[in-house]
Amino acid sequence: MQEQDFHYTRARELLARAEELVSADTVQAAVRNVAEVLNSRFDSDATGEFPLVLGVMGGAVVFTGHLLPQLSFPLEFDYIHVTRYGDQDRGGEVVWKVIPRQNVAGRTIIVVDDILDEGETLAHVKQRLLDMGAAEVILAVFADKELGKRKPVQADIVGLTIPNKFVVGFGMDAHGYWRNLPGLWVIKDDDKQVDEAPPAV
Ligand code: IMP
Ligand code: MG
Repeated sequence: MQEQDFHYTRARELLARAEELVSADTVQAAVRNVAEVLNSRFDSDATGEFPLVLGVMGGAVVFTGHLLPQLSFPLEFDYIHVTRYGDQDRGGEVVWKVIPRQNVAGRTIIVVDDILDEGETLAHVKQRLLDMGAAEVILAVFADKELGKRKPVQADIVGLTIPNKFVVGFGMDAHGYWRNLPGLWVIKDDDKQVDEAPPAV
């Protein structure tokens, strides 16, 4: 119970100190825009493609859930799970927790993710899918963070470009908190620090 109190209080305080960056309406408009771009390419009998959509868990879960019902062409959906940050908010190796189960060889793959930050995660994912024989890998990200430097990979489709701030909401979290917010909020720099939860009693 003590640990739950700690998380409840810290999550509330983190949001109380955060600033809204993108409203829920703007988020929804961005998702519609991504759907339109994908529909304009794939919703055609002329190409007859049957792409495999791979959501990158866990950050992409909300974006994917809003995007899929707006796609109007035949597709297959599955998820992959890669993590770079672990429990920290910076650095670290790309670790695969779930690899694609469908056959990737020869397919067009649409990778859906929450945010392109340094780009290490998606660069790694794209390369791995190409190594597995994917015909084409399209990267669709909800947000692209403006870092002012070249990234190892570019997104093909971007919902929103955001400044170089740490955000929570629409699937993105800080310490596991606030993936459930319908808009994006910038957290305070101090709130990026990880404090240990008190031991459970
Ligand atoms: P990258 O390898 O730096 O591009 O890492 C991208 C991943 O880091 C994303 O899929 C998110 O899970 C996480 N991430 C990057 N920036 C943020 C942020 O501002 N808020 C929450 N998660 C983030
Ligand atoms: Mg992620």
